[in-house]
This record gives sequence, C-alpha cells and structure tokens, in this order.
Amino acid sequence: MTAPETAELFPQEVVPSAPRQTGPGRKLGVFDDNRARPIHRWYPFVEGYSDELVAECLDEAGSGDLAVLDPFGGSGTTALAASLRGHDSMFCEVNPYLAWVADVKVNVTREAAQQSVDSVLRLAESVERDGVAPGSSKHALVHADQRRGFFPHGVVRQVVGLLELIDTELDGAERELARLGVATSLIPTSNMIRRTDLRKRKAGDPQPLPFALTVARQLRMIHEDVLRAGPALAGRATRVAADARALKATPTPVTLVVTSPPYLNGTNYCRNTKLELLALNLIEEEQDLASLRTDSITAGINNVSRRRSDPDVIDAVEETATKLDEVAYDQRIPRLVRLYFADMRLVFRSVRAQVVTGTRFALDIGDSRFAGVHVPTPALLAEVAASEGWTLESSRLLRARRSYDGSPLEQVLLNFRSVEP
Ligand SMILES: C[S@@+](CC[C@H](N)C(=O)[O-])C[C@H]1O[C@@H](n2cnc3c(N)ncnc32)[C@H](O)[C@@H]1O
Repeated sequence: MTAPETAELFPQEVVPSAPRQTGPGRKLGVFDDNRARPIHRWYPFVEGYSDELVAECLDEAGSGDLAVLDPFGGSGTTALAASLRGHDSMFCEVNPYLAWVADVKVNVTREAAQQSVDSVLRLAESVERDGVAPGSSKHALVHADQRRGFFPHGVVRQVVGLLELIDTELDGAERELARLGVATSLIPTSNMIRRTDLRKRKAGDPQPLPFALTVARQLRMIHEDVLRAGPALAGRATRVAADARALKATPTPVTLVVTSPPYLNGTNYCRNTKLELLALNLIEEEQDLASLRTDSITAGINNVSRRRSDPDVIDAVEETATKLDEVAYDQRIPRLVRLYFADMRLVFRSVRAQVVTGTRFALDIGDSRFAGVHVPTPALLAEVAASEGWTLESSRLLRARRSYDGSPLEQVLLNFRSVEP
C-alpha cells in the first residue's frame, strides 16, 4: 500500500460545500476538486470535469427551472452538480457501468436519503471484523481472471462472495449503494492500474490495496455522504439515450447543455471499466466490449472500424485529414479524424432537435496532435456545429496541456447558442 494510491481513493480532507473558487488556479476542466466533495468522491473519474464548471454554467443560466442535458454523461458530474442545485437533468451515456454510477449517485442516493442506510454501515463493520467469504467460481469475473490474472490470489472470489452476500441481505437503495462500494474498490485492489488506459501494474507502481479494508472504507464513505449530502439532492437524472448520436426525444425540452465529449485520441472508456462491467454482470465476457465500442463516438485508433462505411466529407475537416493522409504512419489516423467529426456532427444535430432557439451549449474539449500534425479540434467542432444550428459565442481557456511529443495543447470551454435552423 503506498500513499499516492491510498490518497487517490480516500482523500483526507472533505469539504462538504466547498466555497466557490476564484482566481487563475481554479481547475474547472479536471476532476481533481471533486475528490474532496461528497458523493462526487465515490468514484474518482480521471476524465471527468469539476462540479464547479457545471455550477458556473447553471449560475450563468440565471434563476428559474432548468432542464439540463449532458449528451456524454460519464460518471454523472453534470447530473449530480445539477441535482445538488435543485435542477433535474438528462444524460446520454453509452457505457452501462458509468450510466449506472450516475444513476446511483443521483437517483438512488436521493431515495436513500429518505430512509435508513444503516445496513451499508453494518456491512462495512462486518467486512472489517470478519473479512469476506469466497463466492461462486462460476461468475464471469472469475472466468476472466483465470485467463488474465486481473486480481491477486483469492481476491476475485472475495469480490463475488461479497456481491452474493449483498444480493441476499440487502435490497433497494442500500443494495445499489453497497454494490457501488464493491465496484469502486475493484481497480485499487486488482493487479491493474489506471494510467490513461487500464493496464497491468509494473514494478514501481503502487501495490494493490487489501480488498476487505478497501471496500469497508468505501462503504463507510458512501454511508457518511448519504447522510450528509443526500438530503441536498433535489433534482432527478434521467438517461434519455445510450448513444448520443441516436438521441430521439427528451421528456422535456432542454434549456441548457453542458458536456465533455471524448477527446480525439483519448482513452477507451469501455475497456477501462471492464472489471466493473464484468463484476456487475453488465457484460458476460470481454468480447462484449466490441458492441459498446460500436455505439461510442470514434475517438481512438482502436475504435476505427473497417466495417463502417466512409463518412460524408466535411469540408472544414479535409485540410487536416488530407495532411494526415500524406504523413500518417497508420492510415487509420486520417480515418479516425474524419469519423470523429462525422460522429460529433450527428450529436450536434440530435441535441439541436431537443432545444429551443437561444439555448446555451457549453462544451469542454481539447485539441490533438498526430504524426506531427496539429488537429485544431475546438475550431473544427465550431465549424461542424455551425452547420447544425449552433453558433459559437465564446471560447475560454481552461487549461494548458501537452501532447505525447511535448507540443503545447489546450483545453477550452466552447460556448454555443442554438440559432434558427
Ligand atoms: C469525457 S467523458 C465525460 C465525463 C463527464 N463529464 C464526467 O465528469 O464524468 C466522455 C463520455 O462519453 C461517453 N461516450 C462515448 N461515446 C458516446 C456516445 N456515442 N453517446 C454517449 N456517450 C458516449 C464515454 O463513455 C465517456 O463516459
């Protein structure tokens, strides 16, 4: 057990209602500050943004009821931030584990705050005192572990044993909260580690944490936050589609959109959560990740499907894509760039159909670099958005980044407004 890994999962200091930050040191575009916020901290999601970023957008939208949409909901930061400030929200999310995390953090916790959650605390105490009895060897996670060595010896059977115990002993909101305690303990107690993508731990990486103590601490944290912050959850969150490109209709007209789409050449969200997807029976085997990948925005080289037909040409994107045709070491790269913007165009279109004219769309995004070619993602997205009824009103620098080759990149917040089609 090393300090950095422990700190990652269990932040020392918790700020229940952290004061609004001001000044240049604010980290709006990253998840960091959420690690000290109740409920947000249950699942530190590296690709997430801050509660503060959403709060600012809500404030700027003025008083009154808002119907917030996040077409790339991830771990539910937008939905949770909106709920804590009294607003209902809607989200799309292709990854069923992340969609479930968002549902538990908002809807299940809201329900749990109206009742007793003592069983979650009692479960933590019994796990600390007695450990966890091994469960069935027939579970999908056990089969995957036998082939791939995901966990240290004996841990996977404890994971399954605890999930079985939770299914037998708990129900309703308490069951879901306890399952979240297990799911969020999987990677820290496994032989895997998140370093952009999920990979095996190497010499020099922190060692896996002990399962029983880790899950007990997660359960205690969840219990504490339900009591402390649960009553503040006023809004509900509704998943309105899995694939944002296929969003058809929302139950109410959307009045504010806040989101962060996958970055071009970013991480593989489905593969990164394979342990959780298997543990919760959301997939039966690793091969099932393929269908989730098909429903995802094409954002990484391994998502470039040969089966998919060529997208329509987008003039604005062609200048960059043809440069890549000439220099890229892998012809999937220019295809990735073309498919990414074609996918994002479909999202701008499907979201535009759910909003009235004059609706704000705040989009957090960064640029990329491939084979020495700069891809100005924000500028290209602005052109693509313009063709779908969104005009760019402003762009604000959130953070300076670096590409793999060390060149400077940016993360910006693009502010669009819907115009007459
Ligand atoms: C940058 S993350 C969003 C993080 C989120 N703002 C948060 O704080 O948790 C992008 C998300 O988009 C999801 N995604 C990818 N393709 C999608 C699609 N076609 N429809 C809906 N969600 C998609 C990914 O699974 C990932 O969770």
